[in-house]
Amino acid sequence: MESDGIKRSEEQRLKGKVAIITGGARGIGAATVKLFASNGAYVVVADVLDELGVNLANSIGGRYIHCDVSKEADLESAVKLALAWKGRLDIIFNNAGTSGADGSITNVNMNEVNKIIAVNLFGVVHGIKHAARAMIEGERGGSIICSSSSAAIMGGLASHAYTMSKGAIQSLIKSAACELGQHGIRVNCISPHGVPTEMLISGYRRFLGDIEAEEISKISAKSCSLLSGRGGTTQDVAAAALFLATDEAGFITGHNLVIDGGFTEASTNMIHMYQDTKLVK
Ligand SMILES: NC(=O)c1ccc[n+]([C@@H]2O[C@H](COP(=O)([O-])OP(=O)(O)OC[C@H]3O[C@@H](n4cnc5c(N)ncnc54)[C@H](O)[C@@H]3O)[C@@H](O)[C@H]2O)c1
Repeated sequence: MESDGIKRSEEQRLKGKVAIITGGARGIGAATVKLFASNGAYVVVADVLDELGVNLANSIGGRYIHCDVSKEADLESAVKLALAWKGRLDIIFNNAGTSGADGSITNVNMNEVNKIIAVNLFGVVHGIKHAARAMIEGERGGSIICSSSSAAIMGGLASHAYTMSKGAIQSLIKSAACELGQHGIRVNCISPHGVPTEMLISGYRRFLGDIEAEEISKISAKSCSLLSGRGGTTQDVAAAALFLATDEAGFITGHNLVIDGGFTEASTNMIHMYQDTKLVK
């Protein structure tokens, strides 16, 4: 712990870099804010949860801005704050997201769909647009990381609206990586799965009633990964975002990094095939 109260890792993998993290006030975003700061980054926390966001930003010597990612002007202001504070922008993690619009496609409520698309997809477009402008102007390249989801890889994991919003991000990072590579700007996304945050917990509660958060973590650990008893954590996702933010990932762009303990890679329905059986003579 340094005299300014910020806990720093010895490696300092983002020393001197300036990062914006949307949806940074809690959950995966908050874990990433702490990890980036402990690795030497100057972090702007951008969220709509002002009290949580201010407290977190103060605790890491960062900055907070009220930023509703569905509003383009708010994202533009977040980028301006980073530039006014440190004169550069190296990283943006477009992490803010929301869920809902559950139910049958035959009854889907288009107002709810529009709200989810406005945050999950247009929020990411706003982030890429304004961060890329600043990065191109800065001529130092940059790393843009967007939050997709396991729900974009296989059906049946989230509402139709959430699924399509996250699917579109996987396409968008490819076209953006294609255009921005000439400026040394890498554009990637990450796809977490089953991490017990407020979003996941409220999702479970919509179907299972007032179930304890601890119980949800247990269900998640049991059913959401190939790694027996091991569910995903906010730290797992933050570690992946950190990797993509660093120069260690300097040759990785247009990529979807899946953080799901192998869940979307294989079905365990036929796992008995892998048990050795005695040969009957
Ligand atoms: N938890 C999981 O298992 C999981 C799986 C796949 C993808 N994700 C994605 O990870 C990201 C983070 O989610 P989380 O699990 O930490 O959930 P969370 O609900 O704890 O965090 C979401 C954050 O986004 C913020 N946010 C919501 N709407 C916003 C808006 N309009 N403008 C600015 N900020 C806004 C919230 O205030 C909150 O701080 C989301 O994009 C989510 O879709 C999560």
